Amino acid sequence: MKKIISSLTVFLSIWAVSVAWPGNVHRTDNTQKELLIPVTAGQMQLIYKVSGTDGRLYQVYLGPRLEQPEALLQSRVQGHPAYATFGTDNLFEPAIRITHNDGNPSLELKYVSHSVETPSPGVTLTHILLKDSVYPVEVTLNIRAFSEENIMEQWVEIVHHESKPVTVFNYASSMLHFDCDHYWLTQFHGDWAEEMRMEESELTYGMKVLDSKLGTRAHMYETPVFFLSLNKKSDENTGNLIAGTLGWSGNFQIVFEVDEKGSLRVISGINPFASEYSLDPGKIFRTPSFIFTFSGEGKGLASRNLHHWATRFGILDGDKPRLTLLNNWETTYFDFNEPKLVSLIDDTKKMGLDLFLLDDGWFGNKYPRNNDHAGLGDWQENKLKLPDGLGYLVKEADKKGVKFGIWIEPEMVNPKSELYENHPDWILKLPNRPENYFRNQLVLDLTNPKVQDFVYSIIDGMLTKYPGIAYIKWDCNRMMTNAYSPYLKDKQSQLFIDYVNSLYDVFSRMRQKYPHLPIMLCSGGGGRVDYGALRYFTEFWASDNTDPFERVYIQWGYSFFFPSIAVCNHVTSWGKQSLKFKTDVAMMGKLGYDLKVNSLTDKELKFSQDAIQNYKRLSDVIWHGDLYRLISPYEENRAVLMYVNPEQTKAVLFAYTLNARFGETFNKVKLQGLDPQKTYTIKEINIIDESHGPGNWNMVSQTYSGDYLMKVGLNIGMPVSMTSTVLEITGS
Ligand code: GLA
Repeated sequence: MKKIISSLTVFLSIWAVSVAWPGNVHRTDNTQKELLIPVTAGQMQLIYKVSGTDGRLYQVYLGPRLEQPEALLQSRVQGHPAYATFGTDNLFEPAIRITHNDGNPSLELKYVSHSVETPSPGVTLTHILLKDSVYPVEVTLNIRAFSEENIMEQWVEIVHHESKPVTVFNYASSMLHFDCDHYWLTQFHGDWAEEMRMEESELTYGMKVLDSKLGTRAHMYETPVFFLSLNKKSDENTGNLIAGTLGWSGNFQIVFEVDEKGSLRVISGINPFASEYSLDPGKIFRTPSFIFTFSGEGKGLASRNLHHWATRFGILDGDKPRLTLLNNWETTYFDFNEPKLVSLIDDTKKMGLDLFLLDDGWFGNKYPRNNDHAGLGDWQENKLKLPDGLGYLVKEADKKGVKFGIWIEPEMVNPKSELYENHPDWILKLPNRPENYFRNQLVLDLTNPKVQDFVYSIIDGMLTKYPGIAYIKWDCNRMMTNAYSPYLKDKQSQLFIDYVNSLYDVFSRMRQKYPHLPIMLCSGGGGRVDYGALRYFTEFWASDNTDPFERVYIQWGYSFFFPSIAVCNHVTSWGKQSLKFKTDVAMMGKLGYDLKVNSLTDKELKFSQDAIQNYKRLSDVIWHGDLYRLISPYEENRAVLMYVNPEQTKAVLFAYTLNARFGETFNKVKLQGLDPQKTYTIKEINIIDESHGPGNWNMVSQTYSGDYLMKVGLNIGMPVSMTSTVLEITGS
């Protein structure tokens, strides 16, 4: 039955003055009847209305699912333009702006038809076709609704049939409207090594814009994610809010505009800055997806909705396990040779980790990659460092029973490289201007199909020659200046968009041949983290800052929008905190190491080996359990969070004391997400000192009811800076 439903276009709850309409609706009769188009994702609903007077589409509702949506028609709710155009009567920021090839700069979209499909159980896909009544321009609003996850994904397709290209200046993925007394925006901004700093402010009249103009490594200053709390500020468990994120790895723009009446429009999409697009007749301009959820129970539920969606739909193989690893970046930087790497492979095994990841510095011969000034682009093994090639290392790893992974940065080039010498026309650079460097490198012109082939061939060539390579770290260490493409010639304003689409083409080609190879998305830390790229990646590098104190905040920030399975955290020598603190912090996401294993004491080695085993035992709960953020580091000098499996039989709690001051007292922590009827055994794990030094919790293996744990709570952690506690909680 399910199969039949999924393959058909089905009838859905669609009302026309309280009459149900079929799944495919074409308005050909010009009857000017009012029509409601509700889109439902579990508990959340977005409702459009086709106006009986002007035939345009309006958003009349967004919020918790309504019992009686047709009442919106009875009460004559006017609503706001679903996809506001420019040039006729819209006085505020448009979702779309087009100049036709006769020079007319206006667009007026009217409803034509809509259809609803069920591509798979629990997922509906609504298409609403709008058309200009004078010019042959069509816009389709698409909404994919995920009922179990309470998530909607919106994107738009623009096509025209004029005789010559039209210029598209604005092309939002989504336009949403709100009518509230107050709006609180939570944004996440930062820089290299300080990603995802959270900040909340009230929106006032006029516009607030979150955006990026960096081209590549586009999210270094601002990540395309936000919370919008409606009427009042929200917290973890209370408040009405929208959590939104744009799946686009380049320039983005999210506009919040409060009009003179206090209504808010939120417009999300590719940044139109310096990016007008010349659209050929018949060619479809498809925007990236805007992904959002509504929560009536604060930010915690919104995050869980996003995590559920991401592990099922948003991230490659989100439901599959991940590999723990030892990386050599911070332990060797560029300074290594074969024996050194073999000893690190041995260390990987000794620690009980799954994979050794060889980082930057393994390539380049004419211009050896011994620092970041040379060699980028020349992807041949450096003969001095690796005389026996990568194949030897892959074999060594295999012999020792671990896997082997490798770092690449294929979108970039150092001027000191053979690639630069041989293909000067493959590089983005401005005519008549000196090259502008960042980390001594330049960006390749990925809009050029030859460059796309080159980038693909680096991956494919390596994996074909060494099929044992089991993991890739794909880096991107600079933003785009010199933004001029020799390939695009007179279409330079398309560079920012075409670059990202070309990158996606390469990713998609790579995934056709290597569908499940784990690949880490990295960009000088977390400079490119979004669901557009994560469709092709299994995980991302959250930040180059691995100091565990800073890391608590960085990981806390990502946890609002991205599931822990995707957030790579490594135990390193950054920071003076104890190994236990570092390990406990890294364990709240995808655990890895980048540490001199041979400098660990016997006790530290044993601790690490045990912690890795604990992690492997509990990783399914950490990766796929429900996250409850219990105490925020933004509110107290500690951070506490827990993951609970869907059966509520297993949970893992992480507590970090940050900068404790003057022997302050910490109140009990009330747990969440447990079954009140179940009995839970609490056991502290990751204990380094049998005597339970400061920071450890000395109530080993006690039992409590879920009810008690959630209503009364536990004393967890000590008011001693940089100490931590991990509890394994087992219910029956
Ligand atoms: C970036 C990454 C690091 C490391 C270096 C190598 O900075 O974020 O993890 O791979 O590049 O050059």
